[in-house]
Amino acid sequence: MGIAGTTTGHRGDDLVAMHVPFVDLKRQAEGLRADFDAAFHSVVERAAYTMGPELAQFEEAFAHFCGCDHAIGVSSGTDAVKLALLAAGVQPGDDVIVPANTFIATAEAVSHIGATPVFVDCLEGTGLMDPAAIGPAVTPRTTAVVPVHLYGQPVDMDALAEVASRHGLAIVEDACQAHGATYKGRPAGSLGITAAFSFYPGKNLGALGDGGAVTTNDPAAAETVRLYRNHGQEDKHTHRVIGYCDRLHNLQAALLLVKLPHLTDWNAARRLAATDYDSALAGRHGVTVTEQRDNVEAVYHLYVVMVDDRDGVRQRLGEWGVESGIHYPLPLHIQPAYESLGYSLGDFPAAERRAERILSLPMFPEITEVQRAYVVAALEQALT
Ligand SMILES: Cc1ncc(COP(=O)(O)O)c(C=O)c1O
Repeated sequence: MGIAGTTTGHRGDDLVAMHVPFVDLKRQAEGLRADFDAAFHSVVERAAYTMGPELAQFEEAFAHFCGCDHAIGVSSGTDAVKLALLAAGVQPGDDVIVPANTFIATAEAVSHIGATPVFVDCLEGTGLMDPAAIGPAVTPRTTAVVPVHLYGQPVDMDALAEVASRHGLAIVEDACQAHGATYKGRPAGSLGITAAFSFYPGKNLGALGDGGAVTTNDPAAAETVRLYRNHGQEDKHTHRVIGYCDRLHNLQAALLLVKLPHLTDWNAARRLAATDYDSALAGRHGVTVTEQRDNVEAVYHLYVVMVDDRDGVRQRLGEWGVESGIHYPLPLHIQPAYESLGYSLGDFPAAERRAERILSLPMFPEITEVQRAYVVAALEQALT
């Protein structure tokens, strides 16, 4: 079976149908297998499972990668957002501004500490939080704002910092999709008082299970995160606060130490793939690529386009063997979990319009030129 009119380099040939996965974690692991095995054996040999030397080593290396003084390894990205909020001073009863267009974990973390998420709309072209929407959403209880560097593209931090400072809000970055992205040359994770990263397996830097980190340049905030992630424990039998069991496993830290040195190259490969997609899709009728802001270097955790009849296009892509995703089909203000907040359809038009049209195409560092060409050909076919 072939897609009519597409070529494999021999003009006129049909492209042979192939399977293009959305991400390919097996392929990445293949090349790292020996190093993973060595890391695993070293940890097991010493039975160093929690708070071990690999954790400290990874924290130092990741802090350096993010241009921060501190990185604290935690159990997931969701817990990283929670602890980053706590360390920024957010308390039960506070309001915290979060985008309606993000993964639900951003808002869940706010709810987990007894604060209330207050949603704001996004910019339609990028899907990123609209800084102009923040001011009108501020209440007397608002203490923080969480910019989410969605798909790996940093939010307009200067505009956000201006409104945050006007209203006295702490900035807590959700950098769970943005390991290595930069804003005006400054790394994501170093742009607020605290920041959260996820090491969920499919992330740009993924563990072999769940994991996360909080980064900060504020020593007091770092201390707060260290305290809360480990049962509020000050020393062996003294618990200063009621904390959590939110540690990053030492084994995961050892495996992340294997992967971290590759992250810059992997991000460069993602950028190359995105540039390739961009130029293949630019100006194509029926496809809108995600706008890229000036002064940022995105790391393309996801490559998202907008199309009409998204569900139909997605199904036809699937029939051609191309996996795709939707990030995210239901904005947070209309999620059943947040029904009690009283939002309704129509409140955030840009997020709602995007949700109907967005489609995430295969994106991972190892994606080949042939795979990308096939995705583009299949998309063109699916649009007709
Ligand atoms: C924007 C965003 N925030 C938070 C999270 C939560 O991370 P985790 O799945 O590691 O808890 C994710 C990851 O899925 C995410 O994409």
